[in-house]
Amino acid sequence: MSYQDQLKELLEKQRLAEKGGGDHRIQKQHEAGKLTARERIDLLLDPGSFVELDQLVTHRCSDFGMEEKKFLGDGVVTGHGTIGGRRVFLYSQDFTVFGGSLSSAQANKICKVMDLALKNGTPIIGLSDSGGARIQEGVESLGGYAEIFWRNVQSSGVIPQISVILGPCAGGAVYSPAITDFVFMVENSSYMFVTGPDVIKTVTHEETTKEELGGAEAHSEISGVSHFAYPNEKSCLSGVRKLVEWLPANNMESPPQDSKDQPKDPVDRMCPGILELLPESVNQPYDIRKLIEETVDHGDLIEVHSGYAKNIVVGFAKLGGKTVGVVGNQPAHLAGCLDIDASVKAARFIRYCDAFNLPLVTFVDVPGFLPGIAQEHGGIIKHGAKLLYAYAEATVPKITVIVRKAYGGAYDVMASKHIRADFNFAFPSAEIAVMGSEGAVNILYRGELKEAQDNGKLEKVRSELQEEYKRVFANPYRAAELGYIDEIILPEQVRRSLIQALMACETKRETMPARKHGNIPL
Ligand code: HXC
Repeated sequence: MSYQDQLKELLEKQRLAEKGGGDHRIQKQHEAGKLTARERIDLLLDPGSFVELDQLVTHRCSDFGMEEKKFLGDGVVTGHGTIGGRRVFLYSQDFTVFGGSLSSAQANKICKVMDLALKNGTPIIGLSDSGGARIQEGVESLGGYAEIFWRNVQSSGVIPQISVILGPCAGGAVYSPAITDFVFMVENSSYMFVTGPDVIKTVTHEETTKEELGGAEAHSEISGVSHFAYPNEKSCLSGVRKLVEWLPANNMESPPQDSKDQPKDPVDRMCPGILELLPESVNQPYDIRKLIEETVDHGDLIEVHSGYAKNIVVGFAKLGGKTVGVVGNQPAHLAGCLDIDASVKAARFIRYCDAFNLPLVTFVDVPGFLPGIAQEHGGIIKHGAKLLYAYAEATVPKITVIVRKAYGGAYDVMASKHIRADFNFAFPSAEIAVMGSEGAVNILYRGELKEAQDNGKLEKVRSELQEEYKRVFANPYRAAELGYIDEIILPEQVRRSLIQALMACETKRETMPARKHGNIPL
């Protein structure tokens, strides 16, 4: 065969592979408001950086007439490329080929890029759009899923794993995204569930739709399975790019530092806006997100889980040009109380930051754990313990700012000095005590209050006792006297203090006792 003929043969195979399931199915994909596997890769990666692997792989199934139906690539496009100049490996399921369903050949392709990502210490990104296990392949397909799950676990805490759900993701297939670090979804075109609406109707007689049951809204606001939801695929893939650009590529790498030619937000910039933000009364809410944005570089926060457990805010920001993880109680929602969902949300985020060398900056304004039968019976004890555990085991730099309330167990849990935060700051407005004045006075002065009630002086006596309690405890000075707070800082100086503290911790080395692994209360 001449070189020209060889070239022709190769180009023809490449053309066929790039067509996936063919023009008709590509048209159907577009009509459903979805992009193709390759169009998605083009949006995700730096232009021209994609290198494809295994383009000519086909399935090996011969049941159900499958030997007659082969498509080059077998329903997934895999390879590597760059995002902001940094390498990532990825796979993108092609719904136009057998509905993107997972054959053993497809699983092998996915496993190959997962192995390469782990070996080379780069993020792995999976774009999912699949009808699940390739029905014609039976247990071979199930085995393929399990091979992926196993690799997800091996890679956990070593390289960032990102799942982008851009179509169906049902049955056991959901467990790969569930193990990964971040799940992105698109409104009205992606859904995830273990059993769909039809099965649910048969078993429990409940009526629901795919969107209601497992759409982006359900998972980013009710279940917490999804970390980010976007209105369309383009904005979603651009969100993935930004996140990847901000994260270390693996657990041995330091947080990325802004390059010299990127605009700088001055280290010593004052934050007077915080003074306007903090209300006169301690019982009035304000938005902790605004306080965070006022503090961090360029006011830019990548909020994770923004629609879920809104009483705690977690996300990535930059301070002095380097990425940090930020956690803040949110007084604008449930008064910033810690409940089950908030504890689990923040614990997982903290463990991510700890695994990937991202310092933790914590803003505290917490009246305590949320009281209630539902919380107690739902296991707030074990779930709250997850947050405590996550903070206590984290060995990355931990810097804490007590903005206002730090009451009870929540004071201990929210990166207090006692669980080894490196620098603990407090604003003069901080109140650090076992509980608020009303509850404390009711317990400490039950007899006096009863007597005052009998004499018709209840309100006067109660108010005097509360004032006295506040004078002693509703401030940060007792904690500062004991060295539990390193420095009382003015709110407008918080940015400078945080960056100085982060610089002081840059060479921090801390290890945990040798063990196989801890036993976090799951
Ligand atoms: C093989 C499949 C397939 C599958 C879809 N197709 N799912 N082929 N195995 N699992 C094929 C269809 O035959 C069709 O082929 C093409 O993909 C597009 O499918 P449509 O049904 O025409 O598309 P749509 O109407 O958009 O519906 C999409 C769908 C539906 C909702 C995903 O196809 C569906 O319900 N599929 C089955 C889903 C499922 O039950 N999977 C198994 C789940 S259990 P043609 O040739 O006509 O284009 C599972 C276990 C994993 O996955 C366990 C891991 C441990």
